[in-house]
Amino acid sequence: MHMNILVTGGSGFLGKHLCRVLVSAGHSVLNIDKKPFSEVETIQTDVLDQAKIEQYFAGKDAVFHLASYIEAGESVEQPEKYLQNNVMGTLSVLEAMRKHDVKRFLFSSSAAIYGNPLHTPIKEDERTIPINPYGVTKMAMEGLVSSYVESYGFTGVALRYFNLYGPGEDHVPETHAIPRFIQQINKGEDVTIWGDGSHKRDFVYIDDIVRAHLLALELPQGYHYMNLSGKNATSVIDVIHMLETILGKQANVKHFEFRPGDPLELFADASKAKEVLKWEPQVGLEEGLQKTVEWFRSHTA
Ligand SMILES: NC(=O)c1ccc[n+]([C@@H]2O[C@H](COP(=O)([O-])OP(=O)(O)OC[C@H]3O[C@@H](n4cnc5c(N)ncnc54)[C@H](O)[C@@H]3O)[C@@H](O)[C@H]2O)c1
Repeated sequence: MHMNILVTGGSGFLGKHLCRVLVSAGHSVLNIDKKPFSEVETIQTDVLDQAKIEQYFAGKDAVFHLASYIEAGESVEQPEKYLQNNVMGTLSVLEAMRKHDVKRFLFSSSAAIYGNPLHTPIKEDERTIPINPYGVTKMAMEGLVSSYVESYGFTGVALRYFNLYGPGEDHVPETHAIPRFIQQINKGEDVTIWGDGSHKRDFVYIDDIVRAHLLALELPQGYHYMNLSGKNATSVIDVIHMLETILGKQANVKHFEFRPGDPLELFADASKAKEVLKWEPQVGLEEGLQKTVEWFRSHTA
């Protein structure tokens, strides 16, 4: 069924992929982002400017709210910036929806809400005690959305991604492991890792994440929250070895002292998404890394 969809943060890494797939699925897409994106109609503004963004919500069937600041490390240095942007930004979008009777809200939550989990693989009923302000903002966003579900009959969907990666990821600065490793190995720079690299993480490919968003459009009224994870947890050092093979270059690995509080294992159980969305990750790490490296090859000099 054709829908009129508003995306916030559609000019970012995930947003661009999502907008393209929504358009090719036959939906009408309007993007609100501070940054430009020429492939869909984009209103270049801040979602915090509620008076300005409000007008664009009339007649929309669903909103994907991706706009956030995303750097956990930076959020420790600048908590207020993160709280203001992510939490108040979400409130601004929810209020614009309420005024225009738009009730379907899907948004980017994060593994960061779990902090240091007590159990792996992490299930959705794991305790949620974030350990940085970025995680706090995602937790607060979840609480805000569930309260709009309760008070105004919204449908709220929190998609808790683990480590998302794929073609097109070029954050500045780049703190995410896979694009950082690719660039460092390519340039012959030191590849810095904490400890011996045996800590396991959960890498999930962009196309799998985007597919889950489209399936989530069909969910019934209520508050839904679920993990979206990759096929298998993989140690950081194994990711580096896989990239060495694909790139045909040796990495200059430099080990730093293991960070206290950095969980040894951080990966999810995504059986809830399988049950609720009939979703499972399809792209294995090897294939996903291959495609990501190809993108870097064709986009960097
Ligand atoms: N990349 C990951 O591994 C990962 C993991 C878990 C969750 N997430 C979440 O997924 C979402 C998308 O992540 P991404 O990697 O595409 O990030 P990104 O930084 O590439 O994209 C975010 C976009 O939001 C926009 N934005 C931020 N604040 C805004 C504001 N106030 N008004 C208008 N636009 C604003 C930015 O300009 C940017 O284009 C984020 O909410 C992030 O927290 C990402």
